[in-house]
Amino acid sequence: MTLARLVDILPASAWADHVAGLLADRLAARPNLVVCLPTGSTPRPVYEALPGILQARSVSAAAATVVLLDEYVGLAAGHRARCDSMLRRGLLDRLDPSVARFIPFDMDDMSPQEACTQVDAAVSAAGGLDLVVLGLGRNGHIGMNEPGSAPDAPTRPVELTPSTRAAAIGYGVDPPPTHGVTLGVAGIVSTREIWLLATGAAKTGILARVLDGPVTTNVPATLLRGHPGLRVMVDDAARPNGPVR
Ligand code: GLP
Repeated sequence: MTLARLVDILPASAWADHVAGLLADRLAARPNLVVCLPTGSTPRPVYEALPGILQARSVSAAAATVVLLDEYVGLAAGHRARCDSMLRRGLLDRLDPSVARFIPFDMDDMSPQEACTQVDAAVSAAGGLDLVVLGLGRNGHIGMNEPGSAPDAPTRPVELTPSTRAAAIGYGVDPPPTHGVTLGVAGIVSTREIWLLATGAAKTGILARVLDGPVTTNVPATLLRGHPGLRVMVDDAARPNGPVR
C-alpha cells in the first residue's frame, strides 16, 4: 500500500506550527476532545507553539481531556523526567485555562498493573480516545510498546530496551528506569485518528523502516500501517528523500 498521501513533510521551521495548528483545528471542531499525548523531545516545540495558536484563534482546550501515553516506573512524584511532569511542564501548565481533565498513570498509590487498569477505565469513562499522538522511538517503538509488542498488546507494564533507557537519560534520569507502563498497541490502533510524529536526522533511518520496510512487530510503528486514520507528520530532516515511493 502507498502511504504517500498520509505523510506530511514540512520544513523543520514550519513543522511544529503545522502540528499545533492541526491540534487547534481538532479542539475547535470538538471542544471535549479526548486526546492521548506523548512526551519526549519530539513534541516539545508543538507544545510550545500550541498555547499561542489557541489564543490567536480563540480556541480553548478547557473542555478537553488529555491522556498520558506512557510513564516510567520507579521515579518519585514530581521527578523532572517523569512523563506526567514533562507533559504538565511542557504543555498543561501553560494552557490558560488548562484542560478539563488529565489522566496520567498513578505511579504513586498503586501498582503498575493497577495504574494501567485505572487508565483504561478512565479512558472508557471519558467515552474513548478521539486522537492518539505518538512520538517515534529510536527502535521504532510507539509509547513504550517495544519491539516484539503484539498488535493486540493491552495497556500494561513493560520492560524497557537499552535504546529506550538510553533515551531516558536525555530527559534527566541516570541511571534510567528499567520498566515503564504504556497504552497498548491495541488501544492505539482502536482509536479513530493516529498522528505519528518524527523530526530530525537521528530519526531518518528508523522512519524509513517504518514507512518503507515490511510490517513487523520488530518495528512496532509499522503496525500502524493500513490504519485508515493514520497521519504521519515529519520534518524534512527526518525524511530527506521526500514522500513514500
Ligand atoms: C520515548 C518515550 C515515547 C517517545 C519516544 C520518542 O522513550 N517513551 O513516548 O515518544 O521515546 O522520544 P523522542 O521524541 O525524545 O525521540
